[in-house]
Amino acid sequence: MGQEAEKNMLYSFTKLADVKEKGAVIIVKGEDCYVWDNKGNRYLDGFAGLQVVNIGHGRKEVADAVYNQMRELEYWHSFFGFTTAPTVELASKLAALNPGNLNVPHFVNSGSEGNDTAFKIARAYYKSKKKHGKYKIIYRNKAYHGMNMGAISANGFYGNRVPYEPLVPGFIRIPHCHCYRCPVGKEYPSCDIDCAYALEQIILEEGPDSVAAFIADPVQGTIGGYVPAVKEYFPIIREICDKYDVLFICDEVITGFGRTGKMFGIEHYPGVKPDMMVVAKGLSSGYVPLGAVVVSEEIAETLAENVFMHGYTYGGHPVAAACALANIEILQREKLVENAAEVGAYIGEKLNSFVEQFPFVGEVRATGMLYGLELVKDKKTKEPFPPSFATRAMDIARDKGLLMRISTGGLANLLCPPLTMTKAIADDMIDILKETYTELEKE
Ligand SMILES: Cc1ncc(COP(=O)(O)O)c(C=O)c1O
Repeated sequence: MGQEAEKNMLYSFTKLADVKEKGAVIIVKGEDCYVWDNKGNRYLDGFAGLQVVNIGHGRKEVADAVYNQMRELEYWHSFFGFTTAPTVELASKLAALNPGNLNVPHFVNSGSEGNDTAFKIARAYYKSKKKHGKYKIIYRNKAYHGMNMGAISANGFYGNRVPYEPLVPGFIRIPHCHCYRCPVGKEYPSCDIDCAYALEQIILEEGPDSVAAFIADPVQGTIGGYVPAVKEYFPIIREICDKYDVLFICDEVITGFGRTGKMFGIEHYPGVKPDMMVVAKGLSSGYVPLGAVVVSEEIAETLAENVFMHGYTYGGHPVAAACALANIEILQREKLVENAAEVGAYIGEKLNSFVEQFPFVGEVRATGMLYGLELVKDKKTKEPFPPSFATRAMDIARDKGLLMRISTGGLANLLCPPLTMTKAIADDMIDILKETYTELEKE
């Protein structure tokens, strides 16, 4: 079942024969932190779909907003000087929420499109400034920024890259920040945050005149297994980017809209302002697909002077914008960002005790409502299990009614529930995980 589940996880065509033979789980209904399949089984959604549904499932208010917008104007685009009323309102909302001077959104339909757009913006920006040689994009090991050709060229996991080679030229990898498995073999804080200075080293090796941007997410996502950077990391990154005129692209696709207990993950690093922020998932809580790259007026104007030939048919879709506005209204009115911080810390503390309770839980990483539980054969050597171990935990949990995930590569179990989660529902989630690990230990 382990390998089968892994295969199912990666094979995402909707092939009708497979749906019947392999018995795909057909989800038919959702409410708050729960979803139901077509056989009537209820699941506690410990992963918010795919780290998406921040406001919880089944919110009528969002459905009404979408319905009303469809009746008024079902579609219009953002080309040739056109836009729509909800799109403008959402732009203004994002400008008010975003850190620093990130005031101008370019709307897309997903995180992958957002990151590919950000890479194109970085390259076009320097071309516009007559710095034609500045095109390289630096990314981190274990990074996941999506599935499009640009995004997989900035991907730190071979399985996402190798089958699709050759990739886009000009992408360069550096080590990531991961204290439990330090890529430079040191210990925090005596390491002097060498992983951050790896950025400066590579810029100098490649030549500052050739580097356009550095991309990172505040908490490294599904490949890394929800690894937050140490507090010094992003201030150092910002300083290096300023020093060498390199744009810092902050991927907030998972961490945006309250997930980490702050509106945006980068706010955990006071004073650090990205040059571009990419958002998706929690922007609309997935009720309708939506993403955006938000840039400063300076970047937007520089591009406008030289015509930025880029955009998607559905970019700035009025229905998606109306959905996002209703979603943000709920996030703010119900103080879900604060809930993610408070209930998130409560869950984090309880999960942390798993390190004592189970011989195979090596580390628990908790940031807001993001949890990575690293599973190891031996706590001293940190030797990992094969991916089938974490997959088995995922399968047992699913049979017990809890949906969670494994990190890509299989070193960790991941939890990322809706931000509406109460302490009572959190207790249920933790109990099921405890039962799951107890069963796994017996096996
Ligand atoms: C950090 C991060 N960036 C980008 C993406 C890609 O987003 P999408 O799947 O909406 O294209 C994801 C998806 O999981 C992600 O986790």
